[in-house]
Amino acid sequence: MTDIQGRVAFITGGANGIGLGIARTFARAGARLALADLDGDGLARAKAELQEITQVGTYRLDVRDRDAYAATADAAEAALGPVSLLFNNAGVIVAETPGKLTYDLWDFAIGINLHGVINGIQTFVPRMLKRGQGGHVVNTSSGAGLVATGSGVLYCTAKFAVVGMSESLNLELASAGIGVSVLCPGPVATNVIHRSQEGVPKGAEPLSEAQEKRRAERREMLSKVLQQGTSADEVGRMVLTAVEQNRLYIHTDRFMEEPIKARTQALLDALPG
Ligand SMILES: NC(=O)c1ccc[n+]([C@@H]2O[C@H](COP(=O)([O-])OP(=O)(O)OC[C@H]3O[C@@H](n4cnc5c(N)ncnc54)[C@H](O)[C@@H]3O)[C@@H](O)[C@H]2O)c1
Repeated sequence: MTDIQGRVAFITGGANGIGLGIARTFARAGARLALADLDGDGLARAKAELQEITQVGTYRLDVRDRDAYAATADAAEAALGPVSLLFNNAGVIVAETPGKLTYDLWDFAIGINLHGVINGIQTFVPRMLKRGQGGHVVNTSSGAGLVATGSGVLYCTAKFAVVGMSESLNLELASAGIGVSVLCPGPVATNVIHRSQEGVPKGAEPLSEAQEKRRAERREMLSKVLQQGTSADEVGRMVLTAVEQNRLYIHTDRFMEEPIKARTQALLDALPG
């Protein structure tokens, strides 16, 4: 899609990080913005910045809430016009060892990282199809959606599913002029590690003080690693290019090159002779 000017982009997780980077890029390309997020203060900051460039609507939404999602879509389309660019980007990085998993943890992580994306698809794709004016959907997965490398089973389960969903939708929506991309970032300099702690249910067994401390240190270390990564604004520009060129996969670096090769080789090696 090359005619971004005048289109309406709906961006979940648009108040911070990668979502905000996407919002900035698409605003500069002439799109009107509907930003949906749990973070009301972040939404207000984003609006104050971006309304200098384009028309912006902000919506407090938990992407897990299907009724609220539909109501938000109605409100955004009434205010801004039909949505034809959809960014299912809101997500959290939650990790727990298999022995300490609970259904609450599964529901939390899969609820946001997978059902949030499903809810975006289910809300907007039928509207796009009915209007027949094409569009583009970008689902945010992760490098951890391509190869399991220690991000934890909660995160990998959801992010692998988002890759599969995107590949399948890419095939099935092409004839309707709706492009589908899946963003699989490597490290991106955002505050996701700390922000993801908000609202996370506790694991099956309470942690000792020493364990809590070790986890906090690990989070601090991981967050520092992410700060060395690609900037969110740069990711936004990569996403715009991918939408313009209708590319399925969007990588932000070559971080996963060797793991992807190793996984692909292992899959091929497992084929019967
Ligand atoms: N930062 C990275 O290194 C990295 C790497 C790979 C994948 N990702 C993925 O990129 C996406 C964006 O992450 P980010 O790094 O920009 O994080 P971020 O924390 O900076 O932004 C995520 C946004 O999503 C919002 N959000 C969280 N739960 C929500 C919910 N239930 N409903 C609505 N909004 C909600 C948060 O308030 C926040 O504004 C996520 O899906 C994440 O898994 C990030």
